[in-house]
Amino acid sequence: MTDRPSSTPKSEIRLPKHRLAILLSGRGSNFEAIADAVAGGVVPNAEIVAVLSDVPEAVGLERARARGLPAASVDRKAYPGKREHEAEVLKRLAEARPDLVCLAGYMRLLTPEFVARWRGRILNIHPALLPKFPGLHVQRRALEAGETESGCTVHFVDEGTDTGPIVLQRRVPVLPGDTEESLSARILAEEHRAYPEAIAKVLGSLPRR
Ligand code: GRF
Repeated sequence: MTDRPSSTPKSEIRLPKHRLAILLSGRGSNFEAIADAVAGGVVPNAEIVAVLSDVPEAVGLERARARGLPAASVDRKAYPGKREHEAEVLKRLAEARPDLVCLAGYMRLLTPEFVARWRGRILNIHPALLPKFPGLHVQRRALEAGETESGCTVHFVDEGTDTGPIVLQRRVPVLPGDTEESLSARILAEEHRAYPEAIAKVLGSLPRR
């Protein structure tokens, strides 16, 4: 008769889940894609520990609450200035202790202090093939520039506007007759695949804390 090993078999060792925080300002379709990917195991061994919005009416917040996730607004209009508002967001993040912060349509520029606090642990998604077309209205600008392809980029956030190290990009064609809406929709569908994939990739190489 063989003795049973006294230690837990390797297959039964459970690492703590990776903790994700989401910051959003609007409809939250990227948040939903991430939440689906977490629930479906596409982002393995992870949980969403906070969904924060600077806009109380953000549809993304409603979507998070409907999923039973901890969702809260930190209304930017309720603070005298950017620093005070950011200080509150930082406080909420400190309480939630995420391993990774994901900006998902968060329409605030972050101060260098914020970026320094979360360096290497904060991602953004942008609807263009960076370094081309950083900033706003990028699908319209891509069309006006006569681009034949566009896409999306998931990148680490640094002090610049959409300038941090790229995690991954996905390309889509720009088709004849495309409007800002049709191109945006084609890119968005790709964003919903790219963001979960990028998160899984980054979590796979993040040092455990
Ligand atoms: C997306 O196009 C994303 O790339 C950009 O803001 C938009 C957010 O959309 N940063 P949603 O709120 O995730 O639907």
